[in-house]
Amino acid sequence: MSWTDKKAVETIKQLRDSFKVNTFVETGTFKGINARLHAKNFTEVITCELIKDYFLIAQEKLRSFINVKIVNISSPEFLKQFTEEYKNSGRNDMIIFYLDAHFYDPNIPKEKRFVVLDELRALKDFKNGIIIIHDFDNGLGHITYDGQPLDISLVKNDLMQVNSEFNLYTNELATCEIWNEKTILDSGMIIDFETLDNIRYANSTPRLTYRGILYAIPSELGKEFNLKRIWN
Ligand SMILES: C[S@@+](CC[C@H](N)C(=O)[O-])C[C@H]1O[C@@H](n2cnc3c(N)ncnc32)[C@H](O)[C@@H]1O
Repeated sequence: MSWTDKKAVETIKQLRDSFKVNTFVETGTFKGINARLHAKNFTEVITCELIKDYFLIAQEKLRSFINVKIVNISSPEFLKQFTEEYKNSGRNDMIIFYLDAHFYDPNIPKEKRFVVLDELRALKDFKNGIIIIHDFDNGLGHITYDGQPLDISLVKNDLMQVNSEFNLYTNELATCEIWNEKTILDSGMIIDFETLDNIRYANSTPRLTYRGILYAIPSELGKEFNLKRIWN
């Protein structure tokens, strides 16, 4: 849900412009607010949601956005299909993959709970991609399942199997700029019940307000990006 952070959205737009990206691929649509926001920023938005009820809510919200495609399928399968179609059609344009299909399900075996790992495996060797992982542990708010945070040690092997040339960056507290119930009215976003509900939730406690984000980029970024380089 990085759309609650004005700076995170600006960073995505900066990446779009620097790497000439037309296609924004999201995993975890939830209520469709992020997809709807990026419909105006990208030529094409493709998003997937596993839970039927959320899919239907998002589908309704996104109905009038003809450049948004939403599918009701699990994200690793969705990414496999996307990469296959991309290769078969002879494309070589850069894609932004925004991985946000996080959801703790105690019924899933422990080793399968971080869907993001299967997503990265589905993207293995996809060199024309920028990968953004939301809720990443860089000291800011993040997800932790069964005592294991979503941190660099968890994702680095699978991430580097996608592209061993990746340069890794994260956001920082000082550069977060979070919308609140009042300021969001000037954001230019469509404001509906879910938008306000999500904003209220995001502002309810600092752990939910300031969320960590990992950016895996195929080449080095300039200082204008204001991101912190990590690990490699
Ligand atoms: C954190 S929310 C996504 C928020 C959304 N990207 C936004 O910015 O508003 C995570 C969503 O991922 C969905 N999800 C969980 N596992 C999934 C999977 N394997 N495939 C697709 N979606 C999944 C959940 O149902 C939930 O709606």
